[in-house]
Amino acid sequence: MNPTRRDFLKVGAAAGVGVVFSTLEIAPAAVVPVSGAARTAFRVAPIPTVRMGFVGVGGMGSVHVRNFLNIDNVRISAICDVVEAKVARAQKWVEEAGQPKPAGYSRGALDFKRMMAEEDLDLVLTATPWEWHVPVCVEAMKNGKHAATEVPAATSLEECWQLVETAEKTRRHCVMMENCCYDRIELMTLNMVRKGLLGEVLHAEAGYLHDLREIKFSSVGEGLWRRQHAMKHNGNLYPTHGLGPVAQCMNINRGDVFDYLVSMSSPSRGLQIYAAETFGKDSAQGKERFVLGDVNSSLIKTRNGKTIILIHETNLPRPYTRINLVQGTRGIVQKWPDQVYIEGRSPKDEWEPFETYAAEFEHQLWTKLAAQGEEGGHGGMDFIEDYRLIECLRSGVPLDTDVYDAAAWSAVVGLSEASVARKGQPQAFPDFTRGLWKTNPPLGTIGA
Ligand SMILES: NC(=O)c1ccc[n+]([C@@H]2O[C@H](COP(=O)([O-])OP(=O)(O)OC[C@H]3O[C@@H](n4cnc5c(N)ncnc54)[C@H](O)[C@@H]3O)[C@@H](O)[C@H]2O)c1
Repeated sequence: MNPTRRDFLKVGAAAGVGVVFSTLEIAPAAVVPVSGAARTAFRVAPIPTVRMGFVGVGGMGSVHVRNFLNIDNVRISAICDVVEAKVARAQKWVEEAGQPKPAGYSRGALDFKRMMAEEDLDLVLTATPWEWHVPVCVEAMKNGKHAATEVPAATSLEECWQLVETAEKTRRHCVMMENCCYDRIELMTLNMVRKGLLGEVLHAEAGYLHDLREIKFSSVGEGLWRRQHAMKHNGNLYPTHGLGPVAQCMNINRGDVFDYLVSMSSPSRGLQIYAAETFGKDSAQGKERFVLGDVNSSLIKTRNGKTIILIHETNLPRPYTRINLVQGTRGIVQKWPDQVYIEGRSPKDEWEPFETYAAEFEHQLWTKLAAQGEEGGHGGMDFIEDYRLIECLRSGVPLDTDVYDAAAWSAVVGLSEASVARKGQPQAFPDFTRGLWKTNPPLGTIGA
């Protein structure tokens, strides 16, 4: 079998559940390249002042707007949101920061297209509900702008390919804003891996385990849209917070590549119970029915034989974790609780606190930016993420993650759903890099 991209889409359409592969024999790894141009380590000429437009300035979009107002050499030129009051609020922040009032766009769900056509922008960042990420990014790139999207970048394999192919064709950046790659322990872990402390990394465990019941039933913000996905989809709907950082440790797309996954979901109970107890079983919410299994577990195999366990759990009572466990031949680290075990260095069979290793392995971005980032969302990582994006664009270097990472990490959404629907049958990852993962240089330690 040597399916072309077109065959690949046909197979998906025939399967009737988006673009999926029912057996490994028709794996898309042999997809024929559509372009001969170098597609990785992509860089553009330095952009001295980055002119930005935003689409979606609700919860997360607002965090980004405020962060970028605190980063030098950024000009916020345009704001789009379907809610006019949110546009006005963001415009006010920009003016208060001493910049001219940005143009506002709020004439409906497709008004971002008018913004792209009218405004001279270098970069458009979207923090809209999931279904708008790809339409906004594609429109931005087609209009010559670089695109940045909140997570996950895409919700199906077909959407992942749209991002990859548009970025390649337009020669624009398309980056997924995976802030967890910039969290302190994750960056320290990357440092430890790169410096060989863990030996060869063989296995990781990660996930997004966050009790979102209250948020999903809220009458504002994500409550207006996120719950709907749990009515239609059963799989890992939000894979990238956990997966991104460990994928970087494992050199995914830069020496290794995701090969296939199997996925299973537990029954769906949490949202139904919560709604009945909070609003009453005869309320509108109490009558809603959900298909999203409360605990979805996926097991990913890489081409070099490494393994990753990835969990999605957002409907049950529990404390927060993304796990972030990385096991190497010389030791293991994990987060929540943050602990390290290194053979020959840690007391035998005893975890050590991560802090014991901070003096040696603290990442330079945290040394440099922690104080500035404190107010910038999620304990500092959001500011560091936004800072790095501008630093890379201004220096004309490749971004820390690229469209292939956005696609590979987000592909778990569609693949896990397909596997769950087929009793855990393996689903092949497309090789979005079309073989270039074999020769792509490693990521390094980010910004070092
Ligand atoms: N990285 C993180 O830690 C993190 C945290 C929260 C949310 N997110 C992501 O950010 C995105 C937004 O989540 P949120 O919590 O800010 O949700 P939100 O509902 O608060 O914000 C979404 C905004 O998009 C606007 N919008 C909807 N459709 C639009 C359209 N077609 N054009 C323009 N504006 C539109 C809404 O009016 C709203 O203001 C999601 O992708 C979510 O997964 C990421």
